[in-house]
Amino acid sequence: MARLLAQARFIIGALAVAFVLAIAVPAVAQQPSQVNPTASSVKEQQLLNALQGGGIGGRVSIPDQKSGMLIQPAGRDWRQFHEVTLRWIGAIAILGMLIILVAFYLMRGQVKLESGYSGRRIVRFNAFERFIHWMTATCFIILALSGLNITFGKPLLMPLIGEGAFAAWSQWSKYAHNYLSFPFAIGVFVIFLIWIAGNIPNKVDIEWAKRGGGIVGRDHPPAYRFNAGQKMIYWIVVIGGTAVAVTGYLLMFPFYATDMQGMQLAQTVHAIIAVLFVAAMLAHIYIGTIGMEGAFEAMGEGTVDVNFAREHHALWLEQEMARTGPNESQRQPMATPAE
Ligand code: HEM
Repeated sequence: MARLLAQARFIIGALAVAFVLAIAVPAVAQQPSQVNPTASSVKEQQLLNALQGGGIGGRVSIPDQKSGMLIQPAGRDWRQFHEVTLRWIGAIAILGMLIILVAFYLMRGQVKLESGYSGRRIVRFNAFERFIHWMTATCFIILALSGLNITFGKPLLMPLIGEGAFAAWSQWSKYAHNYLSFPFAIGVFVIFLIWIAGNIPNKVDIEWAKRGGGIVGRDHPPAYRFNAGQKMIYWIVVIGGTAVAVTGYLLMFPFYATDMQGMQLAQTVHAIIAVLFVAAMLAHIYIGTIGMEGAFEAMGEGTVDVNFAREHHALWLEQEMARTGPNESQRQPMATPAE
């Protein structure tokens, strides 16, 4: 009996071991391996694929699902652009333009009014045009300085004025950048409307450009109200202004109209166009001030000397004479500038 019981115990024990083995082996096979190098490399590959596909994110229970993003490699590219590439593009564009203008001034000097001041003046820009110009220009200068503070302020300005002052200045300049964007955008739109008629390119522009605009040489190629150089500035303002406004508002109202990648693209486009825009406006400011005798008066007081009009805008002068008659379109100057 005892032997029988021992045999039964052995059989039951063997069956129990067989049963445990039978369910344990497949279960082991289903466990993720901790040591299998192949399985682990597959996981890395999956990780890399996920990174290339935009990033790795988890699930979050708050409404802002973007906060579930853990790693987004494009963010590193964006940071590299913002901290390094953009600074190079900006420095080359802005300093490069300044160097060109200084060299040009030293070589060519001011473009003089060759026939001198006649003492008779013609209205070039009315009060509304001048108001819009100066409003847009003032906003532009403040937008440019406050924007460039974001790009260059930390490495250039902060060491000079200290962290506290830099933080306070940056906060105010950011307010200025946000709020002055509205009159700037309105100004660009009004400029588009009021000067479009005179800024459509035509054949005269080709001839004007071939003759160096009278700026490179000492020629006086005829032009209508705006010459090819001014038309270029007009289109830079209209197209560049629209581009910075659209991208700027995408940045100012984040994620309303675009996603993470769209935000990074908007910032990149905004910043590149902005620094090129600043370089172009430096050339515009140069030619409107020290670069050309008699030019500033057009936007300063609204009139130019008739000789200035004849030398730089002969076809426009003819049109004005034909339209209003020589006596109506001209008026006596308040004072004849000294030669
Ligand atoms: C409607 C017009 C504009 C709007 C709505 C606008 C808006 C913005 C916004 C929201 C930012 C991001 C600021 C931040 O990161 O906190 C920015 C950056 C910037 N803006 Fe503007 N902006 C406008 C016009 C301009 C103009 C005219 C210029 C210069 C000519 C300019 C130059 C810059 C620059 C250089 C940056 C910094 C880019 C960087 O380093 O990341 N912006 N702008």
